[in-house]
Amino acid sequence: MRRRQFLKIAGTSGVILAATGIGAGAFIATRSPTRAMAPWNQAGSLYQDPMRNALSYAVLAPNPHNRQPWMVELKSESEAVLRCDLERLLPATDPFDRQIVIGLGCFIELFSLAANHLGFRADVDVFPDGAPEDRLDQRPIAALRLTADTGTVPDPLFAFALNRRTNRNAYDLGRPVSDQHLSAIKKIAGPGVLVDGVNRGPLLEKLRELTRLAMRGEFNHPTAHQESVGLMRIGKAEIEASPDGIYLGGPLLEGLSLLGMISRDQLADPASDAFRFGLDMADEQSNTAMGFVWISTRGNARNAQLAAGRAYMRQALQVEASGLAMQPLSQALQEYAAMQPYYDEAHGLLTRGPDERVQMLARIGFADAVKPAPRWPLSTRIKTA
Ligand SMILES: Cc1cc2nc3c(=O)[nH]c(=O)nc-3n(C[C@H](O)[C@H](O)[C@H](O)COP(=O)(O)O)c2cc1C
Repeated sequence: MRRRQFLKIAGTSGVILAATGIGAGAFIATRSPTRAMAPWNQAGSLYQDPMRNALSYAVLAPNPHNRQPWMVELKSESEAVLRCDLERLLPATDPFDRQIVIGLGCFIELFSLAANHLGFRADVDVFPDGAPEDRLDQRPIAALRLTADTGTVPDPLFAFALNRRTNRNAYDLGRPVSDQHLSAIKKIAGPGVLVDGVNRGPLLEKLRELTRLAMRGEFNHPTAHQESVGLMRIGKAEIEASPDGIYLGGPLLEGLSLLGMISRDQLADPASDAFRFGLDMADEQSNTAMGFVWISTRGNARNAQLAAGRAYMRQALQVEASGLAMQPLSQALQEYAAMQPYYDEAHGLLTRGPDERVQMLARIGFADAVKPAPRWPLSTRIKTA
């Protein structure tokens, strides 16, 4: 109800117009952060050499809070070293950099799929100088090598790389996820992981409730919530200046910001309408989950986290192929103290033994399409040796 009232005030015709001093049509038409979306159009066409060509797809991989933590050192046209940019971690919500490593696993999988598409085999040597323990360090995440291989069979999943999105809209409560769709998503994950999912019944209800409460726990934890608020990019100018983080774009949100109804201070303040608006949206995301899929590993070694990321990338492409939408809801899997009860419940519900670790939990369903998320151009993410 509160959300509807908020939107009603915001949407009242003429309000945005008055705030901007220009016609509503012109305002709406000019709000797209075109520059921040350019990497989606440039993938596969900006670079001729196979390494940068494949990397231009890899930067479109899903990753936590869109931090894009990858930094690639080019050794030659066929060899590169992937490192984590240690300035792009999420210490409050990801204290052991587990989710960051999963995002790097997504990057590696998309890189490999793109290489196959270009007629190359990608050899990936993970943690060649040893795997970091509690926190990441400067050691490489992976050494990447491409070899021309006429026998490589491109994976049909790759066809969905440019259309894949994280979709945070409400999902359609009238359209169940079929057993066939669920099993296609479960089947595609690849080696080194355990996958499961649900599309009906008491477990679906429990996971809706668990993800909703865990998200509320995060909203009400000042340090964790502040980490997200600090990464919010509000409106075209901010998004184009920093095409990463949490993207609050589009004419409505930018209009609200011009009206003084959405700012980082308000989003951080539990007493504000903007904060409650965010909370209502998050509730709706959990409440409209029409299914969940999760990826677990035996143990929680760094290479298991990378494998989970590779599996999530494949699942996300299969979701796109099935015409479905997907959004990770990660709060209950996070390791900071306030999440402990949710973490315990998630592991009680979703694992079969004490050594199993849930690495990804995502809702699925049918939903209206969303725009691509901003990306830094590949040129800003590579260094030459
Ligand atoms: C490990 C991991 C955890 C994530 N957790 C969440 C989450 O809890 N909520 C959410 O809305 N998106 C989550 N995402 C999705 C990212 O926010 C998303 O990939 C990023 O913003 C880029 O957008 P895109 O996937 O549409 O390209 C997660 C992604 C990864 C890889």
